[in-house]
Amino acid sequence: MTDVWSERAETYRESEAHRSGRDLDLIVEWAEGETALDVATGGGHVARRLREAGFQVVTVDPAPGMRADTTARAEDLPFADGSFDTVVSRAAPHHFTDIATAMAEMARVARHLVIVADNLYLGETFEEASRLHDPTHVRCYSEEEWRGLFAGAGLGVEAVEIEDKRIELEPWLARAGCSGEEADRVRELLADRIEDGYLALDRIVLKGRKA
Ligand SMILES: C[S@@+](CC[C@H](N)C(=O)[O-])C[C@H]1O[C@@H](n2cnc3c(N)ncnc32)[C@H](O)[C@@H]1O
Repeated sequence: MTDVWSERAETYRESEAHRSGRDLDLIVEWAEGETALDVATGGGHVARRLREAGFQVVTVDPAPGMRADTTARAEDLPFADGSFDTVVSRAAPHHFTDIATAMAEMARVARHLVIVADNLYLGETFEEASRLHDPTHVRCYSEEEWRGLFAGAGLGVEAVEIEDKRIELEPWLARAGCSGEEADRVRELLADRIEDGYLALDRIVLKGRKA
């Protein structure tokens, strides 16, 4: 999985869908303190925005091509307990193989806050299309499941927002190398969510505080 992500690194750095969004604004608005950890940094868009807002940010990602400060999985973060005021992960938890362990790790290394922004669960058809589009897709979660994951990691949910997210369909397919018959099947499965070349998603953003 790591090599696949390294090969895609440049497209994620440049991706318009990843560079902007209400979720990035909320992360900057909600983050607290002076230090932050960006888990699964990918193209580094969360880190860039938090640095612009004055935070000292450390980035972590398992794919060497993403050029993070530290190469590691969310499920096994190589930092001491309470190392960062705010810990964030955006547009990535649906790729984590063990989400409960990743949430426990993010809560462990946070001093105060954990913020997660990810695509909301939209049903099994959407999941099937997501796996076909990108075999590294593991699962999206509903708001109820996210609330359970935060509680399980000892985090009290303080705020939740759901953003309408529009992603340009063809670049989204191309970023994951999805083409030909597979891409046709993805377009077919998602037909009722595609309009004028854009795919309609819901992006959930949650803020959790350590007890
Ligand atoms: C869509 S990109 C991240 C986007 C980025 N956070 C942003 O806001 O633009 C998904 C990232 O998850 C990383 N990833 C995949 N599995 C992971 C895991 N188990 N732990 C941490 N990161 C993982 C990949 O290497 C990739 O860089």
